[in-house]
Amino acid sequence: MKAIQINRTGGPEVLEVVEIGVPKPGEEDVVVKVETAGVNYVDVYHRDGRYAVKPPFILGQEGAGTVIAVGTGVTELKVGDRVAWTGIMGSYAEYVKLPASRAVPVPEKIGWHEAAAAMLQGMTAHYLSHDTYPLKKGDTALVHAAAGGVGLLLVQMAHQLGARVIGTVSTEEKAELARSAGADEIILYTQTDFEAEVHRLAPDGRVQVVYDSVGLSTFSKGLNLLSPRGMMVLFGSSSGNIPPFELGTLSQKGSLFVTRPSLAHYIATRGELLSRSRDVFDMILSGKLRLRIGHTYKLTDAAQAHKDLEGRKTTGKILLLP
Ligand SMILES: NC(=O)c1ccc[n+]([C@@H]2O[C@H](COP(=O)([O-])OP(=O)(O)OC[C@H]3O[C@@H](n4cnc5c(N)ncnc54)[C@H](OP(=O)(O)O)[C@@H]3O)[C@@H](O)[C@H]2O)c1
Repeated sequence: MKAIQINRTGGPEVLEVVEIGVPKPGEEDVVVKVETAGVNYVDVYHRDGRYAVKPPFILGQEGAGTVIAVGTGVTELKVGDRVAWTGIMGSYAEYVKLPASRAVPVPEKIGWHEAAAAMLQGMTAHYLSHDTYPLKKGDTALVHAAAGGVGLLLVQMAHQLGARVIGTVSTEEKAELARSAGADEIILYTQTDFEAEVHRLAPDGRVQVVYDSVGLSTFSKGLNLLSPRGMMVLFGSSSGNIPPFELGTLSQKGSLFVTRPSLAHYIATRGELLSRSRDVFDMILSGKLRLRIGHTYKLTDAAQAHKDLEGRKTTGKILLLP
């Protein structure tokens, strides 16, 4: 089978197309023919070494496909079942092996593209808006990178939960997408100072929560925008990691909360994985959540997908088609 392997960390050029054997299932595993693999920013961190994984390894955390083999201990799944997954390294490939306990059954009416797109970014938007800081009517939320993969889904969920949403994006085209997802206000943070703009736009000049996946270029200004006891949800670092900071700052700026959450801890049990994915699938089926598949690439063009993602050229979900 074809797979995208990295033998050393670095830029997109380190992605190599390799031919390797189709994996065999262990006792508790299934092997899946990958129909669609998701590209996520975490793949960039794995590739460039920001998240340490020792090469060589096959990149990719997410996908959807058909079960072609099951281990002897697997009772819940059978050959032919449609499944999706996240958090499984090795998904940029024609076949992937995963523990049966991490495979999510895909409803019949959900297509392959939607199934893959719902997993990592869909469940992330879900836990951020429903659990990390459960949004409610009357809240104002600042969502950075509002036209990105997570961003467009988070804006929709925040809007549906009754929050007022201020989004930041880099271009007019992205602004339009974020507005159509339900953002009340959009700031072009590459052209205007978002701190001054949020003070102008938010009721009382402050927000109850900042959802920040950009990191280095946005984090410290975001702290200045929170109302007392507000929450900074730092969930990524697309622009770079933030430097260490003095915890006393949180007290001075209004007894703030800061959290650095990870999806893995919000789908740690099989029960939570299934209920969260079911919620996201239900939102898609009922028309409440619109997925934007912004870009599809051949599996072998994964390096180009990385260049576009890091170059801020993409919107919504990016998929690889093996
Ligand atoms: N903690 C978790 O559980 C979790 C789960 C999923 C994703 N994440 C994080 O959420 C973020 C979004 O992931 P995604 O896959 O949906 O990606 P994405 O948002 O589609 O792409 C990243 C976006 O970040 C913005 N950005 C701002 N400064 C940037 C810079 N210097 N370089 C590159 N991009 C920059 C760009 O939007 P503009 O051009 O509009 O600025 C870009 O399109 C990532 O940081 C990811 O690690 C975290």
